Amino acid sequence: MGLEGKVAIVTGAARGTGAAIAERFCREGARVVLGDILDDKGRETAEKLGTSATFHPLDVTDSAQWSAIVDRTLTDHQRIDVLVNNAGVLHQGPIENTSEADFRRLLEVNTLGPFLGIRAVVPAMREGGAGSIVNVGSIDSLAAMNGLTAYCASKFGLRGLAKAAALEIGRDGIRVNTVCPAGGNPEMFEPWMSKVMGFLEETTAYNEDRGIPGSVPVESIVDAIVFLASDASRHCTGIDLPVDGGATAGCFIPGFNTL
Ligand SMILES: NC(=O)c1ccc[n+]([C@@H]2O[C@H](COP(=O)([O-])OP(=O)(O)OC[C@H]3O[C@@H](n4cnc5c(N)ncnc54)[C@H](O)[C@@H]3O)[C@@H](O)[C@H]2O)c1
Repeated sequence: MGLEGKVAIVTGAARGTGAAIAERFCREGARVVLGDILDDKGRETAEKLGTSATFHPLDVTDSAQWSAIVDRTLTDHQRIDVLVNNAGVLHQGPIENTSEADFRRLLEVNTLGPFLGIRAVVPAMREGGAGSIVNVGSIDSLAAMNGLTAYCASKFGLRGLAKAAALEIGRDGIRVNTVCPAGGNPEMFEPWMSKVMGFLEETTAYNEDRGIPGSVPVESIVDAIVFLASDASRHCTGIDLPVDGGATAGCFIPGFNTL
């Protein structure tokens, strides 16, 4: 699809899906500025990608840090074509085990962060006459799950933000879309793994009861992000692109396939 010559900012790019996006964008010919709160890991990831990649510290909840990364990108590359709002955090637990601070933190990183990012890049994209903003949502942006109230609220909110922004800045040539994956870096839910082990069968069954069973590899998520970042998706804006093996398509009942 080609991202040749494009300049992209990717948030949460020190590790996991964000690092994979940055790596693939570089291979597709883009120059990439990686942002993350994990400074050492972020620098290490950027160094591995060679001269097309640079790291800049970024806490997505801080508008001053957004101004700094945008200024640095414009100084180094004179343009911004793509923003991938990938940084995200998770909290798992029932409502009573979700503190006000947990809820606020998820809204701040997963919803406010992308808002600040969109607001920060729009002037440069408008001046360039084009831009593509890709938000990384989740299947939990499309269908809710128990034990994930804060995460679902933040990721549903992200979709609303994308759709409203898409309508508002479409006439400036800027597109805003959301990828909704059923997978990513297992490190994200590691803090809850020991508790989940007690009902592993249930969670595995959940992964299997879909059109394409099994977990979704990060490469497939990155493919969808490359599509939305590139000109191949030039008439897509305000859309949600599930990369979930059909998990949100509806209900799969194994026995019905044998009737
Ligand atoms: N892991 C999954 O199973 C899964 C499933 C669906 C969607 N997602 C989404 O995919 C995206 C990438 O997550 P991942 O799976 O690679 O997990 P991850 O934990 O490896 O990546 C998240 C990255 O965001 C960074 N980050 C956190 N807070 C930040 C902040 N305030 N400012 C800047 N960076 C910050 C982290 O340091 C990390 O590098 C997230 O938006 C996540 O919600 C993940």
